[in-house]
Amino acid sequence: MNIPVLTLGPAASACVPGLERLRGPVTVVRRCEELAELVAACQSGLARAVIIASGAVELTASLVDRLLFAGVVVVVLTDGSPEGPAILDGAEYVAASVDPAALAEAVSRAVDRFDAGSAGSRGSLAYADPRDVPDVAVPVQADPPQPPGDGRITAVWGPPGGPGRTTVALNMAAELAAAGTSVLLIDADTYGASVGAALGLLDESAGLPQACRIADQGGFDGTALARIAVNVAIKGGRLRVLTGITRPDRWPELRPAALGQVLEAARSIADVTIVDCGFCLETDEELSFDTLAPRRNGATLRCLDAADSLIAVGGADAVGVPRLVKALAELADVVPTAAPRVVFNKVRATAVGRAPENQLRQAWERFGPAAGISAFLPVDYAAVDQALLAGTALLETAPASRLRLAIAELAEVPVAGTRRGAGAATRRREVFRQPR
Ligand SMILES: Nc1ncnc2c1ncn2[C@@H]1O[C@H](COP(=O)(O)OP(=O)(O)O)[C@@H](O)[C@H]1O
Ligand SMILES: [Mg+2]
Repeated sequence: MNIPVLTLGPAASACVPGLERLRGPVTVVRRCEELAELVAACQSGLARAVIIASGAVELTASLVDRLLFAGVVVVVLTDGSPEGPAILDGAEYVAASVDPAALAEAVSRAVDRFDAGSAGSRGSLAYADPRDVPDVAVPVQADPPQPPGDGRITAVWGPPGGPGRTTVALNMAAELAAAGTSVLLIDADTYGASVGAALGLLDESAGLPQACRIADQGGFDGTALARIAVNVAIKGGRLRVLTGITRPDRWPELRPAALGQVLEAARSIADVTIVDCGFCLETDEELSFDTLAPRRNGATLRCLDAADSLIAVGGADAVGVPRLVKALAELADVVPTAAPRVVFNKVRATAVGRAPENQLRQAWERFGPAAGISAFLPVDYAAVDQALLAGTALLETAPASRLRLAIAELAEVPVAGTRRGAGAATRRREVFRQPR
């Protein structure tokens, strides 16, 4: 196989004569002067690999991800200087002084690995630390500097209309934190971030965009993430929080590739990471391959893709139920591997009739997907308002409320003095009482 390759910048094009003399396995099809030219050529399917000298262009995780998305692997020539470039997941690092045969071999190995998907999906090719480049130049392969953690990620998602994604995400995270689990709560909603406001945190803390900015430059890890996350004390426990974008028009700051790195770092510092996701899954903008434009819903999609488990929250009324049905159908199209747990929130007799849980179950059997309903969370305006006013979680301000107990049960946190299901029993007595 002869691999068509592009180079970017003078330092990379200096390798061309040597590569040409080899007469395979790589052929340089174009020497690009500018990044835009390189990207256009990649997106038109001209090449399988690019060779870029570090420093020729601002190489970011988003750029690497975009090129990998177009099926093109990125080989970075490093000069072996002590500070070196930041490591970007998915790029191959090779010493600039390497001989042409070794460079060609590194390119073909990267392409083979990409094709075999042996190191995972796009964006996760093995990478090496260019600072380790020895004087005798050979292609560099090394283990990642920090092993990925095994923390689990739970995404909380749901259709538009305020079904209660943030309320569920925040309170589940708080329950786990108070029970002693190490938890990170991430607000990745690109339409209506609200975790910061709900916890009374300053806007300026905007932790997630800050983390994404650093991650986009490469070399992001759990230590960097722990520095950015804000610590919130919850009933003797510690909840780490990455607040979201401060205005909806800042959504381009949550680039999917960078967010992916942040989520991987999260696994290494928290046993459980709960991500409050935006609702929208539309992917139309991904069809425009001729642009490097960021994708507004890319952040949500990356979170859903990375999550080990997914909670889909729907409003328990005549608008919320059909919305959730449609949203789940869309989810099945876009993330076919997702197996969401369905949760109805703001469950109340006034919206769906007497015995609302039964009504919802019956409606779900008729219209909903096969997966059953995992939880019913009762409406409780007084409890959520009190917690919002105090900038904390329900377990602080309304510890005995049925809503709090139901969310603790959803998070599988045993609450002292309550039986499993006790919340539901009380709920039937009080909420479902027949109006006189
Ligand atoms: N079980 C509930 N009972 C009463 N109000 C609720 C409940 N869950 C959420 N709310 C309120 O509904 C509104 C939307 O909830 P939120 O969690 O912000 O939704 P989303 O994140 O899906 O937009 C908020 O004012 C919240 O306090
Ligand atoms: Mg929200």
